[in-house]
Amino acid sequence: MGLNKKSVDDFNAKGRRVLVRCDFNVPLKNGEITDDTRIVAALPTINKLVNDGAKVILCSHLGKVKEGPNEKESLAPVAKRLSEKLGKEVKFIADYNVTGAETTAAVAAMNEGDVILLQNTRFRMKEETKPGDAGEAFAKELADLCDDYVCDAFGSSHRAHASVSVVTKYVREKGGNCAVGYLMQKEINFLGNAVENPVRPFVAILGGAKVADKLNVINNLLEKCDTLIIGGGMAFTFLKAKGYEIGKSLCDDEKIDYCKEMMAKAEKLGKKLLLPVDTGIAAGFPDPIDGPVDVTYVDSDKIPADMEGLDIGPKTCELFANAAKTAKTVVWNGPMGVFENPTLAKGTIAVAKALAETDATTIIGGGDSAAACNQLGFADKMSHISTGGGASLEFLEGKELPGVYAADDK
Ligand code: 3PG
Ligand code: MG
Repeated sequence: MGLNKKSVDDFNAKGRRVLVRCDFNVPLKNGEITDDTRIVAALPTINKLVNDGAKVILCSHLGKVKEGPNEKESLAPVAKRLSEKLGKEVKFIADYNVTGAETTAAVAAMNEGDVILLQNTRFRMKEETKPGDAGEAFAKELADLCDDYVCDAFGSSHRAHASVSVVTKYVREKGGNCAVGYLMQKEINFLGNAVENPVRPFVAILGGAKVADKLNVINNLLEKCDTLIIGGGMAFTFLKAKGYEIGKSLCDDEKIDYCKEMMAKAEKLGKKLLLPVDTGIAAGFPDPIDGPVDVTYVDSDKIPADMEGLDIGPKTCELFANAAKTAKTVVWNGPMGVFENPTLAKGTIAVAKALAETDATTIIGGGDSAAACNQLGFADKMSHISTGGGASLEFLEGKELPGVYAADDK
């Protein structure tokens, strides 16, 4: 998917009210932001609009908001952190209505270069996430606040939500611009080039718990890459499909046939499909997750019936690292084992280290693999770490993302 979309560089925002959808869905612990990557990633677009003299109205969702609007899922901490990062006041409109009278008044009072942040769009849950008639009305309320709309919420761009895509209809209707921000451009350039136009050899590394979550990613990447590496919990379903005993290891029983199909497809296409040749096993999953665990390493076809595979073994680390080192482009999504546990993080560390050391373009899908890179200290060694979890996966599936699609073409 190329990006021939209008961007913030393609229209003059001076004096205009610009609504910017960000993904400020950041992790919080006791009201404190524990990782502000997504806030930092939004700064270039916000700064650009501020410097252009726009009136910048920011909006985002936060969390799942299962129990209705509540203080714990308020965007207040984001406004505070954003003010610090921008070095200027970000006025927060705490109204649970998001677009109510308080917001309208605040927008009316804005000067050029001012920044305000609206309340969590999921406080209008049904309207935001299931845009039917009510969602259309909410999207129109958002559009009424602004002259132009910018989507910079890559992490949310796989959601056809009112504030992500539906809003563009109403902004466009009144002649406003619907553009993408710099973060969206960057994400799509890295991920898009890797998948559609990779410098070869192109190696894709997939991990994580479940095959079922990544069916289409496996299928799509198998067609696009030269080598597909599968580790993490999902590798065990593949090993079982090869006829191995996998003991108590994770297995998607319903996906065994699918794994067989993928292995046959790889063979037919002449692609390398690498699976773990050895495995770190223990009597059970550590509890707590980072608690002590007694691990031994066995060949992957020798996992005892009463043991559970929880990491890749040292021979596999070498195999995967060598494959990654021969690549010119690497995309990685999903940890190789239970990386939250120091004893079971070895496989994930080995892969991260191999990627950190290569000159290849290295692209890390968001979510757990991004967390692993950050936590293990390799983040600044990668070419690109996506801010999207689900969004980067859907992108790697080759799907069209509503948040991208909705923007004006150039
Ligand atoms: C994410 O963190 O995956 C994005 O912010 C989207 O959130 P969601 O999965 O709750 O839609
Ligand atoms: Mg998600």
